[in-house]
Amino acid sequence: MTTAANSAAPSGVNAINLNYLEHVMEMSKTHVVSASEDIFDDAGTLLWAKGKRIDSRLQEKLIVRKLQRPLEVSLVVESGVTMESILALVQGIGTSNPTIFAIARKHLSAAINSFAAASLCQPACLLLTTLQNSRPHVFAHSVEVALLSASLAIQIGLPPESVEHLIIGGLLHDVGELYINPDYLDQKRSLTPSEWKHIAAHPRISQLILESLTDYPKPIARAIAEHHERFDGSGYPRGIAGNNMSRCGQILSMAEMLSGILHNRSYPIVRATLAVKLIPGEFPAELINAIGEMRRASSAPPQEAAGFAAAAVPELIQKTRVVGMALSGSINECRLIQLQANKTPQPAKDLLAQIENRLLQLQKALSAIGLGDCFTSDYLDAQSSDNYEETYLELDVVVCEISWRLRDIARDLALKLEDFDEQAKSVFLPLATSLLVNQDQAEPCRPKQEQANAEASAPLRPLNSDDTLEVGAFSLPAQKVPHENARLH
Ligand SMILES: [Fe+2]
Ligand SMILES: [Fe+2]
Repeated sequence: MTTAANSAAPSGVNAINLNYLEHVMEMSKTHVVSASEDIFDDAGTLLWAKGKRIDSRLQEKLIVRKLQRPLEVSLVVESGVTMESILALVQGIGTSNPTIFAIARKHLSAAINSFAAASLCQPACLLLTTLQNSRPHVFAHSVEVALLSASLAIQIGLPPESVEHLIIGGLLHDVGELYINPDYLDQKRSLTPSEWKHIAAHPRISQLILESLTDYPKPIARAIAEHHERFDGSGYPRGIAGNNMSRCGQILSMAEMLSGILHNRSYPIVRATLAVKLIPGEFPAELINAIGEMRRASSAPPQEAAGFAAAAVPELIQKTRVVGMALSGSINECRLIQLQANKTPQPAKDLLAQIENRLLQLQKALSAIGLGDCFTSDYLDAQSSDNYEETYLELDVVVCEISWRLRDIARDLALKLEDFDEQAKSVFLPLATSLLVNQDQAEPCRPKQEQANAEASAPLRPLNSDDTLEVGAFSLPAQKVPHENARLH
């Protein structure tokens, strides 16, 4: 992977993306990958005969040539991903991921029927096998997103055709990551804003791949392009909002968010239920209601009943103070910048208004659980009532979610400031600094059982103090995320 090129997207369907080529060659070490047709370069020279298994000699030829037809349609892999193998994963979701199962079980049998009815074309099978081989956690996430999307679509009564579109879209939505320098996807690595731009382009790359290499209906590619957008316009890469997003895009976006939360986190179902409605307007009310209906239809898995560990309360109080101060401090910085209106051009004022609005929405979320502007120990200590477990769990969830969003805002600010001059950047510097929340503070507190086993379990790797996103004269913490976070994907 170290020789992979930096180009993020194929510059034309017949150009070889060296990152993707690296993944294919890696896969060819464990799978039989052969030419499904004669492979010619753009001058008409035969490079590889149909049926011949690929090896490093083809890689050497491809690095310096363009092809008559895209590589993705000219190769076939034996024993790779098929819809049958994906169906087996979906049918086993109750064992492999009980929390996904708990949300999806109401419509699981109907969703399985739709998976069986959907078809994967040859390039899709090759892409998914490559994804499974190179980034197995992203492949597993993609299957989850497909299942959650299908379940949501069935819950709100979309026609079978749309359910199948969402299954294909869910499976393929992150294949664009195969075309990005894998170093950028390493969550332990610091990223510059320009490197972040490569990552933020992966929905668009996935869309281009689908449009250029398959005959899938256009709504699938559109939904894929929208899977990191948000209904209130706070997503990426385009920041589109409301009905500028397609309905399938809105569903894929919510399934994307849910998968990041439901997989391998403390109190996943409680967390997911709160997270999707934390910010008013972030997701369509229809889909929030659908999740509630689906959750009510299935009992939560036993571990969800675990209470909040009393030993974690001091840690939670500290975390709440840190996040609360970052939030209120950032709102204050916005107001201070407004006082310097003569130093800020109109685009900067518009950016400031967007950021302040997002921060005020977060403050409303805190107010909704009774915190609002007060982060005092008086309030927090007063929570030590008989039902403190439930209260503290909700607080933990809300504070973690706010922390994630503060860092999303910080990242967006860093990217957008790249277009501004040095004076405008300097005006925003205190705000960018204020938005920083220590990564360690954002981790969910552990439920009782995890707390008891803390020493026996492998701890999550905290980011080092030097894990930063360099942004001109200041730096932001590296996003340990969402990509698909965690939620980056
Ligand atoms: Fe993604
Ligand atoms: Fe994703």
